[in-house]
Amino acid sequence: MGSTLFRTKKVEQSILDTEEPGHALRKTLSALDLTVFGVGVIIGTGIFVLTGKVAKENAGPAVSVAFVVAAVVCALAALCYAEFASTVPVAGSAYTFSYATLGELPAWIIGWDLVLEFALGTAVVAVGWSGYIRSLLDNAGWHLPAALGGRDGVSGFGFDILAAALVLVLTAVLVLGMKLSARLTGVVVAIKVTVVLIVIVAGAFFVTGANYRPFVPKAQVVEAGGTLKAPLIQSMFGWAPSNFGVMGIFTAASVVFFAFIGFDIVATTAEETRNPQRDMPRGILGSLFVCTALYVGVSIVVTGMERYTRLTVDAPLADAFKAVGHPWYAGVISFGAAIGLTVVCMILLLGQSRVFFAMSRDGLLPRFFSRVHPRFRTPHRPTVLLGVVIAVVAGFTSLSELAELVNIGTLFAFVVVALGVIILRRTRPDLHRAFRTPFVPVVPVLSVCASLWLMLNLPAETWLRFAIWLVIGFAVYFLYGRSHSVLSPGEGARADEAAGPPGDRAP
Ligand code: ALA
Repeated sequence: MGSTLFRTKKVEQSILDTEEPGHALRKTLSALDLTVFGVGVIIGTGIFVLTGKVAKENAGPAVSVAFVVAAVVCALAALCYAEFASTVPVAGSAYTFSYATLGELPAWIIGWDLVLEFALGTAVVAVGWSGYIRSLLDNAGWHLPAALGGRDGVSGFGFDILAAALVLVLTAVLVLGMKLSARLTGVVVAIKVTVVLIVIVAGAFFVTGANYRPFVPKAQVVEAGGTLKAPLIQSMFGWAPSNFGVMGIFTAASVVFFAFIGFDIVATTAEETRNPQRDMPRGILGSLFVCTALYVGVSIVVTGMERYTRLTVDAPLADAFKAVGHPWYAGVISFGAAIGLTVVCMILLLGQSRVFFAMSRDGLLPRFFSRVHPRFRTPHRPTVLLGVVIAVVAGFTSLSELAELVNIGTLFAFVVVALGVIILRRTRPDLHRAFRTPFVPVVPVLSVCASLWLMLNLPAETWLRFAIWLVIGFAVYFLYGRSHSVLSPGEGARADEAAGPPGDRAP
């Protein structure tokens, strides 16, 4: 049994699978496409929404330091991701990497975890998008009925029709094909980066030095919430749950980490990249670098424009401009944020459908989902299935805690990828690696420690939810995946039958 759980899929087999008729994706992306793609998904709800919340509640002006802490964690993980992505250039990101190294069960767990990350991430961003759109509509004097604006805190009922509609429209765009999406991404990323630069450059004129004092507010004990709401590390050591101070910076980092989610998704498109060996590391590290610089700039400016205690939680960047008497800038920023969040949503949706696709191609989920569309050559079945599920979740859920669940899932994936780099260096030293992580095993070990540290700074209840999701994943694997895996004896031939006659397959 142990040998089944840890059977690995040969790296060469993973690469061969990508050429299997009817299951191959089109290779169209360049390094620049990947960087644009990365920046497109990375800048989103994290900077546009969470900055205000964590500055106000956890870190004060030191939120910029929290962004740097999160960026360091991501950079370490990116160095590991880049080696993996350039060695195993097939759809599925950390899932595929761990299948080639750690074995089937860990790969299943990670794939299951990534579907959660991307799917809930899409829902979080769709709801954030809907908030900005409603605020723009309000400015224009159009007010949506409250029941169609998301869950109502009083009655507990409501449906966020804008968020659900966005997810469904983007699902259709993705089914129509990568090319269209990449082009659309380019235009929208330009708008989003311009808006972020406007915040930094225009906002710099309204900075008041006094707002930075104190830069790291003194730690304050919080009474409400109990141990489940407190960061796990504080509960573990029996500390009184506190905000601000040095630990507040780490709590903030574990939340604003959401702002960096996305660079790992660049790796999920390795199979659609023209020259993954060269372009993948460039795309991943390039997009991470650009975003870190922008985040630090934005957070320094915004906490300098308005005292952190007065920052708003829903639209802090726009509101900071209103506070200094420039509502026109605020409108432009809201508009850019709404456009930018559209692309974040689209790419998260793309990432999750590709992981699902790869898991299905390996037989861990029904093979039905890995037939690409005969004309568009996109994995339309998982895209549509998950698109509809996410639209419903986005419509019915209010989501601040879900962002933390997304973070813990992503950090867990980072841990597995970093371990995978070390293991693959030992088990397959012969493989060609276009990009090599420097100082192995030091960098991967640091990456594991840094990711675990941020995980420990997330609330205990987030750990609990994550554990429940993993338990469900175990159940699905043992009831379906293990016996249907293409690595099961005899399952390869059955998988071919399930994929349909050759005449049905795409050219
Ligand atoms: N990094 C993305 C965002 O901040 C997911 O919205």
